[in-house]
Amino acid sequence: MTSNTELSPPTSKQLDASDQLAAYRERFVEPKDGSVIAYLDGNSLGRPLRVTAASLATFIQGDWGTGLIRSWDEKWMDEPTVVGDRLGDVVLGAAPGQTFIGDSTSVLLYKLLRAGLEGQPGRNQLVIDRDNFPTDRFIVEGIAAERDAEIVWIDPDPTAGVTPADVAAAVGPHTAVVLLSHVAYRSGSLADAPAITRLVKDAGGLMMWDLSHSVGSVPLELDAWGVDLAVGCTYKYLNGGPGAPALAYINSSLVSRLRQPIWGWMGASDPFEMSANFEPAANVRRFITGTPPILAMQPLKDMTELIADVGMAAIREKSIALTEHAIALAEELLVPLGVEIASPREPSQRGSHVSVNHPLFADVTARLWEQGVIPDFRPPHGLRIGLSPLSTSFAEVQRGIEAIRDVLVSLQ
Ligand SMILES: Cc1ncc(COP(=O)(O)O)c(C=O)c1O
Repeated sequence: MTSNTELSPPTSKQLDASDQLAAYRERFVEPKDGSVIAYLDGNSLGRPLRVTAASLATFIQGDWGTGLIRSWDEKWMDEPTVVGDRLGDVVLGAAPGQTFIGDSTSVLLYKLLRAGLEGQPGRNQLVIDRDNFPTDRFIVEGIAAERDAEIVWIDPDPTAGVTPADVAAAVGPHTAVVLLSHVAYRSGSLADAPAITRLVKDAGGLMMWDLSHSVGSVPLELDAWGVDLAVGCTYKYLNGGPGAPALAYINSSLVSRLRQPIWGWMGASDPFEMSANFEPAANVRRFITGTPPILAMQPLKDMTELIADVGMAAIREKSIALTEHAIALAEELLVPLGVEIASPREPSQRGSHVSVNHPLFADVTARLWEQGVIPDFRPPHGLRIGLSPLSTSFAEVQRGIEAIRDVLVSLQ
């Protein structure tokens, strides 16, 4: 081997050959008709696991088809917290009794944020950043209008995301709750959750994380970090399927103290007592509202067990290798065409997707989809390359970035 060869970065082929997790790609459904050349959008919708087809069939035949209504008594009533506790153990770093599955992320943002605000008497400020995902900002604006709260806006650097210094400047004696995304949906920047959580709590606020873009791709230690509240999507890196119900985490120190705003019979201390007045359950079930979406939470169970087999540390290692590869390829093939890399270069400061900017990317993305190359587009000119650690190969990243280059060249 010449010293030149030693210095050149590894090829996609070499990276796939040495990938310890390569065999897991087989576990996912992949169309055999050649209609998908590169799937780079697992950060929006993860691929289905093959085993899920069988587990859904078993569920329909067994728990639903045979158990019928009896399955509510036998298992389904506990399913939101059983699945939540398992996710807490494998993925969230959360002891039992603090996590459940149900509702959408948006609805859970509303329920937990309002519960948090009302649990902070004498404090009327909600803190959020202007680059946060629209639903997070809209929910904050809605609650502020409804409860006459004040919004404190953080204006982060669009690439680096919200820093501890940004948060330190925004919190104070009136801070009720701070809501931030752990991984920013646009740039993929990874916030320093332990440091920010500490800062917020030192100021007497409650820290709430939206984990939608980190859960299943970045190791989490919610209990150890002292997080108060968290929500997150399960259809991205947890492969729960389109519209799969979300996760909610309420720290044990708050479970019996906070009251969520949507009182329904499933959050009552005894739903089947059919009582005259609402008495919330003493445990985390008080944050549930209506009948839990049991069918829709089945696929998530398969992915949680797969993650338990692999381990979050190995998943993070592959995620970093994939994003490093994507950035190296983008620098080589896209930057010379005027593309800007809009994600942090330092691996410890980003999640599992890489964003690149170019004024033609709306058109480019539409043409890529026609070819079976599937990233996604976020206005005004961002193309996101989402890299699901267990289902994406290094060669797939290369095929995708070469296709972006080819379409861009054809349009320029
Ligand atoms: C950071 C973040 N929060 C919330 C949501 C929306 O969640 P839902 O539409 O499931 O309520 C998304 C969706 O992509 C997201 O990226």
